[in-house]
Amino acid sequence: MTAVPPSFSDPVRAGPPPLRTGSGTEAPEAAGSPVPPRPTAEGEPLRRSGCRPRRRAPGTDPRAEPSDTLRFLRSWRAAPLQVAAIAPSGPALAALITSEIGTRHAPVLELGPGTGVFTRALIARGLAPEDLALVELDDTFAGLLRTRFPEAQILQMSAARLRGLSLFDGRKAGAAVSGLGLLSMSPRTVMAILSGTFAHLRPGAAFYQFTYGPRCPVPRPVLDRLGLEARRIGGTLRNLPPASVYRIARRPSAPQGPFAQHGH
Ligand SMILES: C[S@@+](CC[C@H](N)C(=O)[O-])C[C@H]1O[C@@H](n2cnc3c(N)ncnc32)[C@H](O)[C@@H]1O
Repeated sequence: MTAVPPSFSDPVRAGPPPLRTGSGTEAPEAAGSPVPPRPTAEGEPLRRSGCRPRRRAPGTDPRAEPSDTLRFLRSWRAAPLQVAAIAPSGPALAALITSEIGTRHAPVLELGPGTGVFTRALIARGLAPEDLALVELDDTFAGLLRTRFPEAQILQMSAARLRGLSLFDGRKAGAAVSGLGLLSMSPRTVMAILSGTFAHLRPGAAFYQFTYGPRCPVPRPVLDRLGLEARRIGGTLRNLPPASVYRIARRPSAPQGPFAQHGH
């Protein structure tokens, strides 16, 4: 599982940081209405250079969706090991974990999408929402994903139960992206998640997993048992906490046996 480091959880105990809504609470000048400079006691206008907020590109304003952070905090408080993070991943990690995926990989499977940060990055890379299957255990997140990505296939269930499901009318996926907190799961559950997911992946397809830890979050015996290999494709310090991404794929010599679909 991707553990929440103690320093990361402390602010939560102290209560969530104040969130700015950006909806009518700014000073008038921040909202765009010019306000005459206030005179000083000496009669000189007080210049407040540097007070005007910098303009950001659309979609990059961290105040734009404060409710996602609140949603994460609430879900984390209710099930900390399951949610495994107190805030959604940032855009740098979303860009890294999807960096090797393009339209040729459609359809794509996503595990533990939360509020949909990686989903958005996949769509930004050209994937059509209808070519995405999103597997999310938390009912609040699953409901949010249905609203945000109505054309995607949303499965509210554990990713450990993927084996035997029919996902894309029998088509196999070209990649899987996982935001699951594998470090808090038992090796048995991790095994079920990986073997079930690879049963839905075509030959040569990879499973992308992030972690806040120093090594691949899939235990070595699980990789060996399933004939998989893991390679770190990069890391980013521009995420809280900093994170790495691993590409997990079948070893060239591995038989397809462990991943054969059962039940249909
Ligand atoms: C660390 S959060 C990552 C969320 C999102 N991908 C992100 O990076 O912001 C882990 C997510 O996995 C979900 N989750 C945990 N266990 C799961 C399971 N067994 N099957 C499917 N989703 C699960 C949680 O509800 C949560 O949304």
